[in-house]
Amino acid sequence: MRRRTTDPAFDATQVSPWNDGIEGLAYGGDYNPEQWPLDVQLEDIELMREAGVNLLSVAIFSWATIEPREGELDWTWLDATLDRLHGAGIRVALATATASPPPWLTRKHPEILPRLADGTVLHQGGRQAYAVTHPLHRDYALTMAARVAERYQDHPALALWHVDNEIGCHVPRDYSDAAAAAFREWLAVRYTTVDALNAAWGTAFWSQRYGSFDDVLPPLSAPTFANPTQQLDFDRFSSDALLDYYRDLRDTLRAITPHVPTTTNLMASTSTKGMDYFSWAPELDVVANDHYTNAADPERHVELSFSADLTRGIAGGAPWVLMEHSTAAVNWQPRNRTKQPGELLRNSLSHVARGADAVMFFQWRASQAGAEKFHSGMVPHAGTDSQLWRDVVGLGQALRALGEVRGSRVRSRAALVVDWPAWWGAELDSHPTQELRYMDQVRAWYRELWRLGVTADVVPPTAALDAYDLVVVPTLYLVTDEGAANVAAAAERGATVVITYFSGIVDEHDHVRLGGYPGAFRDLLGVRTEEFFPLLADEQVHVSGALGGFAADLWTEKSSVAPGVEVLAVYDDGPLPGGPALTRRAVPGGGSAWYVATRLAPEGVEAVARAAATEAGVLPGLSARPGVELVRRRSDDGTRSWLFAINHTDEPAHVEAAGFELLTATTVDALKVPAGGVRVVREA
Ligand code: GLA
Repeated sequence: MRRRTTDPAFDATQVSPWNDGIEGLAYGGDYNPEQWPLDVQLEDIELMREAGVNLLSVAIFSWATIEPREGELDWTWLDATLDRLHGAGIRVALATATASPPPWLTRKHPEILPRLADGTVLHQGGRQAYAVTHPLHRDYALTMAARVAERYQDHPALALWHVDNEIGCHVPRDYSDAAAAAFREWLAVRYTTVDALNAAWGTAFWSQRYGSFDDVLPPLSAPTFANPTQQLDFDRFSSDALLDYYRDLRDTLRAITPHVPTTTNLMASTSTKGMDYFSWAPELDVVANDHYTNAADPERHVELSFSADLTRGIAGGAPWVLMEHSTAAVNWQPRNRTKQPGELLRNSLSHVARGADAVMFFQWRASQAGAEKFHSGMVPHAGTDSQLWRDVVGLGQALRALGEVRGSRVRSRAALVVDWPAWWGAELDSHPTQELRYMDQVRAWYRELWRLGVTADVVPPTAALDAYDLVVVPTLYLVTDEGAANVAAAAERGATVVITYFSGIVDEHDHVRLGGYPGAFRDLLGVRTEEFFPLLADEQVHVSGALGGFAADLWTEKSSVAPGVEVLAVYDDGPLPGGPALTRRAVPGGGSAWYVATRLAPEGVEAVARAAATEAGVLPGLSARPGVELVRRRSDDGTRSWLFAINHTDEPAHVEAAGFELLTATTVDALKVPAGGVRVVREA
């Protein structure tokens, strides 16, 4: 893999803010005019003005339209589009047009196609059919990006570069020969000698010792479990390889337009496992995210909040761009149900409440043909005489009314620690149970914090934790010494730290930390586990103690506690009756370290989260009904704050808040939020 690392001499201060030329919050979406005749494109401009659109992503999938045959370039439609948008005062996030190679390219060079672990080739005809590490593909993609940048470098509509699209979305792991070669190069950089690789991968086992880097392959389909560290390193490599592609494209753009900011749309959510976005963030001039709710999930607004809080964590707390979400149904879930009345506004403003300074959609106009024709857009198939269009216009008005929140930040006193290598490691095969799902545990704790009204920053284990009084660490199976010390330091400084089962087990090479689990956190927690007792399918246990009695499943472990550690709950039954299930150690320095040794049912998670949040002093003072989301953004200088109240229930809600309500433009001294509605108060 070619590593063109960022030129250290690059002066980032010359990069313009992404929202220069936009008043207030950005509003818009992906715009694909090449799918429509001219009369529709002209109508688009009128409708964009009506909706208040001020930012569009253009030319994402346009390679084959710009270059239908190799070397034959047609820019006329894109020239006209950018001129028209500029004429209407709309700024453009211009794409590199590389998101899908044109058919002539993959037919001429089938060697650039990606492969699955079993050797299956992924062909053209869908999208994203390229091996991200293939040097030939890279050259073609960089050439395309440079052509776009050279042509439009001085175009007045250009606000921001949109690199490729959802990099890694369909092919997060490629097992082609190009990937194998790049993996070997990556390993040689990581380990320098093959002996160091052998030590890290534990290849004394099963005759796996390598005599040369040349013998190493990606973890292809094998007769039984592939080496776990090989799998883990392939995860790391794959995330890095995708980022390397971004970086190469970005540097190509930077060489031509050093002042234009660059981003790519991430997919931070509970389901995007492939890319370690915390490691990507420093390479983006502004963090942009795409998020889609799952229609079948009754708590999809909570998962949405998680995604937004994670995106803010990736952005290091800075405002970010919601690059895509949907106005209504998508086309790729098993049953694509539209949103409920008011859900579009609630979804969009929940993102804004949690730090987005842009609200954008896939896509401006719902397609008439192609695989996404049943995906909603801002302009539906039914046209403008529709509730959806009225909602889109209404959302534009709401965003204009909220313009003053731009640039302000969420300041949380609670952190939820999340880590991609821990996620990859926790779900490797050949573990005590195959049922453990990392994100289930993350979601379970996030959900209860959400329901308690505790806004949490979602941050990596090595993040600065000084600002937090509560730090929740779900199932951090793999943790570096540095990450473990950082978490411990938070408790030593006075924070309440909650760690759940199967944490601290291995180091970065997936080697078990010996001497008793939970290895890296044993001293902090004052807990020593001799053996795991995962529960069988459908087996439940009951735990009880100071916080009440709760069901638990999936996991138990045989532990003892150090002197002075409080046992807050024990197992009443199951394989370990009387054993500690929930413990708390008072940490010298004022903080505490809680250990949750089993998978508690939601009521148990709620009780522990409430007790820990109470101890940490982070429960919100505001009273509101459950299901009413309350989040605050504050100006950088701390003089102004805005309370977002999003009512996900079908009853009106009363919130103690006083000030100026921006959506109704009224002064309030007690806030009533209509059923399913949203209010935003500039606090007095
Ligand atoms: C992703 C892609 C878009 C579109 C949407 C559909 O976000 O970036 O091109 O396919 O999904 O939901």
